Amino acid sequence: MKIAIINGPNLNLLGKREPEIYGKISFEQYFDQLKAAFPQADLVYYQSNVEGELINKLQEVGFEYDGIIFNGGAYTHYSYAIRDAIAGIQTPVVEVHISNVYAREEFRHKSITGGKAVGVITGLGMKGYDLAVRYLLER
Ligand code: DQA
Repeated sequence: MKIAIINGPNLNLLGKREPEIYGKISFEQYFDQLKAAFPQADLVYYQSNVEGELINKLQEVGFEYDGIIFNGGAYTHYSYAIRDAIAGIQTPVVEVHISNVYAREEFRHKSITGGKAVGVITGLGMKGYDLAVRYLLER
């Protein structure tokens, strides 16, 4: 079972960025825990701050992998190009947000990309990625 975790802009700063919202652990540290927790899954991690690079990665893995866990960061709220990329690939995408976007500023309440995902997990912290892996494995 090949699963790609794709994180968008500013998520390379996890652990340092607004820790009161996003926590104190870097994604690299969390990813090690995730790999240890799911030895049966082939987990691959990719992060980019660039919209086109995220689209390239979605297209690259989106006809080959069994699942994608995608956190588009702020692109979630306005990227029609990423929405189209998710719609155009075959691999199911689970959208994850670390923070509860509905408890934050109004512009975060709308997900442009989420409508093309199989589901959205928001507000459960890093645990959202864990739950998304579980879902994809059991699906
Ligand atoms: C986020 C929520 C977005 O609104 C924000 O722009 C992010 C992170 C989250 O994981 O909670 O960069 O996707």
